[in-house]
Amino acid sequence: MSNVDRRGFLRLATLAVGSYVAGASTASPSSPRSRIRGPAHDVLRKVHLTAAEGEVEVAPGLVYRTWLYNGQFPGPLIRASEGERLQVTLDNALPDDTTVHWHGVPVANPMDGVPGITQDPVRPGTAFLYDFLAQPAGSFMYHSHVGLQLDRGLVGALIVEERTPHVPYDRDYVVVLDDFLPTAPTLPAGGGMMGGMAAPPYAGLLLNGKLPRAAPEFAVRRGERARFRFLNPSGATTFRVAIAGHRMSVTHTDGRPVEPVTVDSLIIGMGERYDVVVAADNPGAWTLMAASVEGSLAPAQAIVRYLDSAQTSPPAGQIPEGLVGGALLSLAELHAVEPLLPYTAQPNRQFDLVLSGGMMSRSWTINGQAYPDANPLEVRAGERIRVRLANQSMAIHPMHLHGHFFQVGSVWKDTVVVPPMGSTSFDFVADNPGDWFFHCHNAYHMEMGMARVVSYV
Ligand code: C2O
Ligand code: CU
Repeated sequence: MSNVDRRGFLRLATLAVGSYVAGASTASPSSPRSRIRGPAHDVLRKVHLTAAEGEVEVAPGLVYRTWLYNGQFPGPLIRASEGERLQVTLDNALPDDTTVHWHGVPVANPMDGVPGITQDPVRPGTAFLYDFLAQPAGSFMYHSHVGLQLDRGLVGALIVEERTPHVPYDRDYVVVLDDFLPTAPTLPAGGGMMGGMAAPPYAGLLLNGKLPRAAPEFAVRRGERARFRFLNPSGATTFRVAIAGHRMSVTHTDGRPVEPVTVDSLIIGMGERYDVVVAADNPGAWTLMAASVEGSLAPAQAIVRYLDSAQTSPPAGQIPEGLVGGALLSLAELHAVEPLLPYTAQPNRQFDLVLSGGMMSRSWTINGQAYPDANPLEVRAGERIRVRLANQSMAIHPMHLHGHFFQVGSVWKDTVVVPPMGSTSFDFVADNPGDWFFHCHNAYHMEMGMARVVSYV
């Protein structure tokens, strides 16, 4: 370790230990973040990301120019082991400012990648060093947090492998679900229905960067257990996922381990992640499908192919049973493996937030305010916070909190879907000081105001 590295390491060590002690000294209940005892990790993993214009081939012969990390779409898969220190250099070769946000990882505030809140935007032709600990283990994502850049292709998967998985597996596949925009993203021009509700002109739904006719293959062998990590970094699409001929045992949501629950399909909102383990006990070739729950674009697809079967492709037109019936996962069925917060009717602070917009409005709001013309949600370190969300619109709002995990029902998550006209509630412990973005992960809703800053005072 060089002197420079060493200094940076010690500085980070101080941050991590500092926030742990802060959590402990107020005797607050513990969250997955505050249970991190780290660091003492000497393994350094260096990654280089260059954000630049490039070409993507979403199907043979179908090439588009867009903005990419390292010329890849999705961006390069970053895999680290729990507790490693990650140093990611971002080189900005775009004609615009950019940043990278480590979605779901409770990094220290200056590493969170939100321009104007946690860092200055990275100007064209300059670089920024992101330096943080890869912990806790889980399936995370990274993406630009400038404007609508996420919808251009500046997204990738960040996988932090656990030392001892609570559900064993033989193979590990990352499945990135996305909607593909062949043009530069723009906010809807006028108000009215078109302004609020219209979907961007997507050219199709992608699985690991490919249209259905170029469906990627996931190989398995009979008798194995395959782990699929579903990630949804899309701009504006909620997916329902199922695999023909197989059930899925849900093992993690947003990277946090849960007691396995077996289902035929699950719904994954923008910003959410679900890990499942599938028992390969039905030889053949099967369709894995991710269908938009709102739109009419052809579902994204992959093929689950048994290497020990003569069949190489699924029967034409095969639709997984789970997309038309069977057991659909309900969040209420899941129970965290990690300890939950003690029950309390009386948190230290509560926010009641109404989500609205769409229809005749030009913005998406929280309690009538459209960010940046919106008050911060002020909290104090150590407090137990409750956030109640009521969706008074016809749109799906996957709400994402930076820097923290929150408890919803009996699970830990960082992104929770609030269904149209529905409501939900979550609790978290203020154990990571700073200013943190809290927003709808529909990129357009976020840009049109559905966001707040959670601010430690
Ligand atoms: Cu996935 Cu505010 O981010
Ligand atoms: Cu929304």
